[in-house]
Amino acid sequence: MEKVLNESIQGTALSTKDNVKNTRLLYIESYGCQMNFSDSEIVASILANEGFNTTDNLEDADLVLVNTCSIREKAELTVRKRLEKFNAVKEKRPHMKVGVLGCMAERLKSQLLEEEKIVDMVVGPDAYKDLPNLVQEIDEGRNAVNVILSKEETYGDVAPVRLNTNGVTAFVTITRGCDNMCTFCVVPFTRGRERSRDPLSIINEVNDLWKKGFKEVTLLGQNVDSYLWYGGGLKKDFVKASDMQKATAVNFSDLLGMVASAQPKMRIRFSTSNPQDMTLDVIHTMAKFENICNYIHLPVQSGSDRILKEMNRLHTREEYFELIDNIKKIIPDCAISQDMIAGFPTETEEDHQDTLSLMEYVKYDYGFMFAYSERPGTMAARKLKDAVPFETKKRRLSEIIELQRKHCQERTEQHLGQVQEVLIEGVSKKSNDHFMGRNSQNTVAVFPKENYKVGDFVMVRMDSCTSATLIGKAMGYSKNN
Ligand code: SAH
Ligand code: F3S
Repeated sequence: MEKVLNESIQGTALSTKDNVKNTRLLYIESYGCQMNFSDSEIVASILANEGFNTTDNLEDADLVLVNTCSIREKAELTVRKRLEKFNAVKEKRPHMKVGVLGCMAERLKSQLLEEEKIVDMVVGPDAYKDLPNLVQEIDEGRNAVNVILSKEETYGDVAPVRLNTNGVTAFVTITRGCDNMCTFCVVPFTRGRERSRDPLSIINEVNDLWKKGFKEVTLLGQNVDSYLWYGGGLKKDFVKASDMQKATAVNFSDLLGMVASAQPKMRIRFSTSNPQDMTLDVIHTMAKFENICNYIHLPVQSGSDRILKEMNRLHTREEYFELIDNIKKIIPDCAISQDMIAGFPTETEEDHQDTLSLMEYVKYDYGFMFAYSERPGTMAARKLKDAVPFETKKRRLSEIIELQRKHCQERTEQHLGQVQEVLIEGVSKKSNDHFMGRNSQNTVAVFPKENYKVGDFVMVRMDSCTSATLIGKAMGYSKNN
């Protein structure tokens, strides 16, 4: 039997409850960002109406879908390897069909059908509502492709089925696509132009999750602070909106307030924030609502002004510091995390030192750090040579990771001695006698189970820690419970 990874969510197969009327089995595997995992839930929901139940056993599947990521070359290589595995299974199950979804589908389009002979279907991230037709095409023995990007599609009207859920935390997509055009990034090409989802459908989904027992939602988008609802349509077309549409538009700060007040006991998180689009209003809204968690994922990518400019990140190092200072002034215990790229083209040793000194200034709670990977079609690939030697990239990356590890340890230690609210998400991976959950700042905490249960809000005294995990003892329920 195919082994499903559980040390990491990458490649997790998703499965749902059966519908007795359904006769075929769908195996769906997801890679990359949270948005892909969320999209797979939409896909499973659409295909549930087309006669498919999900399975987490590849060998049983009639239809195999892989929701793919193009962000770095390695992500694409992982998927190519998986396709080889699917091919081996298909030899024993010739009627099994294979479809590629998501960013690789969008980037490579029908080229994928030629390069990967076993692929029957290629579907881009805005075309999932066309799946019923596409599946019919492959049933009739033809290859099927739909990689059309949309101006409107937000899947606001598809109720995602929750796959492999802990029943406590869920993701709710609020924007799709990205207009930022960071020069290294393939996302604007694979996910299209930015559009926002109707706030009412967002609130409905959040209310529905609360009714089903969920206690925390994360509002998802490539750049959530850029959220803008004015009746539908692309963000870039807002300039053409009517006066009425402009006057009644809902921005991210408004939306956060609406969601937080719709469900005052539900924890609200959001990701990702782009520094250039984050406003003081958003920070004030976070401060105003107790149920909005004190944590901001605020990728910076580099600490060097020159590199930020080459990356088309539309802010300077100084402006970033100002934003950090404001966050810490308004929400003193706010946790902040970063994404960082080592070895962007033309990066010098001095630029790299700027990155390290920026990190020293912020002392991030967590970080996600990558070596630059050239992506075909991006501005950086077209204009700049990927000339920082591999060894240099690797060394700089490991210096960044080492410094982050140190800061992470320091930040985790800051919670020691405090009694903090933790939402229990499940049993600790390391011990069956302990629960794991997170505090508002998103730091993982583990503590003895006693009589608490998954989904409870408990007050936990933080007694000791490793570099990224707090170890404590529950002192009772929080007032939120
Ligand atoms: N705004 C998005 C960013 C998606 S990409 C979000 O929701 O998080 C996630 C991270 O991957 C980026 O912040 C960046 O640090 C990294 N990344 C993107 N393109 C990359 C590339 N070509 N090489 C290396 N890392 C990259
Ligand atoms: Fe990519 Fe920059 Fe958008 S990293 S997703 S182009 S904010």
